[in-house]
Amino acid sequence: MAKFPRDFLWGAATSAYQVEGDNVHSDWWPWEKKAGKTRSGRACRHYEFYERDFDLARRLHHNAHRFSIEWGRIEPREGSFSRREMAHYLNVVLALRRRGIEPIVTLHHFTNPVWFSRSGGWVAQRAVDRFLRFCNFVTRSLAPHVRYWITINEPTIYLSHAYVFGVWPPQERSYLKATLVAENLAAAHIEAYRAIHKIYRRSGLDRPYVGIAQNVMAFVPYKRALKNRFTAYLRDKVYNLAFLNRIIRHNIIGSKRMDFIGANYYSRQLVELKKFGIGNLAMDVCENNRWPVEKNSLGWDIYPRGLYEVLLKLKRYDLPIIITENGICTSDDGLRWRYIRDHLKNIHRAMREGVPVKGYLYWSLLDNFEWDKGFRPRFGLIGIDYDNCKRRVRKSARLLGQVCKTGILK
Ligand code: FCB
Repeated sequence: MAKFPRDFLWGAATSAYQVEGDNVHSDWWPWEKKAGKTRSGRACRHYEFYERDFDLARRLHHNAHRFSIEWGRIEPREGSFSRREMAHYLNVVLALRRRGIEPIVTLHHFTNPVWFSRSGGWVAQRAVDRFLRFCNFVTRSLAPHVRYWITINEPTIYLSHAYVFGVWPPQERSYLKATLVAENLAAAHIEAYRAIHKIYRRSGLDRPYVGIAQNVMAFVPYKRALKNRFTAYLRDKVYNLAFLNRIIRHNIIGSKRMDFIGANYYSRQLVELKKFGIGNLAMDVCENNRWPVEKNSLGWDIYPRGLYEVLLKLKRYDLPIIITENGICTSDDGLRWRYIRDHLKNIHRAMREGVPVKGYLYWSLLDNFEWDKGFRPRFGLIGIDYDNCKRRVRKSARLLGQVCKTGILK
């Protein structure tokens, strides 16, 4: 039996573009059309149904909820901010508060306004200032009701998919641009961190908690061969830790730039280096694993122990950690529950060894638009029938709900 602390944050996460619908001012919208991808369209219509969705979350005993603000709604044209859309998000926050659910707000979750992308996106020199203006506007409106902020979701995933592999807009394949984007995203976080804290200070509000959501993966060397161990070590440094190190070194030299680490964990990579080349070092994996593990419906290995291992690595930063995403897409809801249970066990094990984990947010509250994979992957605690947008609470959601309620995992 595992017992979690009374003040543990329990809930689920979403992102605006994936659930709201009709985000016509965001860069993914025209890109889906042009690239011939599944259109996000009305998604889950969460923009209209958020109250009902939060009722369900409340019934599942969630006490926290992570969601994102769609920049393209707030600033559909450069410099022109929509008070109406800001009022919508204020209502979202208040709707959570009324239900006793702590809002955890993400400012950037992969999508940008169309105008921002057309004027150079995250490569442009002015990118950081533009983002900052948006952050200031949003923070001023929500500060009295929000304590947890995530500036940027998965910077490494964003920049690798959009600027290295070229599979997400703007579909670039350029190491040079990727390097510039990495610098700009780190600067954007640091500036946003400062700006958010300043607004709270000036308004006499309690200190907020500002962090990022970092993708973390377990890199497991196949057969423990030396070359695989070396490659796994490198990938851990580059994918899991490089961005955090860039920011957290400021914490160490005196000026704090991160209050907590958000960790998004899904899977492992079984590393098998086939030859020495940059691409191989970055991507080679074992294709004929003789000891297969279960997989989600996208073919990702299920490897709960990896979360424990990653958490022990994050311990060195001496910061509170929130699991800001962990979840599975599957048509087998029994497997979903086993996935959740086994990951929670590993979180608890890490906590017993002194890792300060403060919360667990399952990805996702609802089935939703899984980016370039469309609507097929089903990650939700709550299933969506896309013909009529009806919600169906899954059994796994209820089982997790019992853990949220009691803090006890049997
Ligand atoms: C993460 C993203 C999230 C969702 C899950 C499955 O990388 O942050 O939006 O797509 O993966």
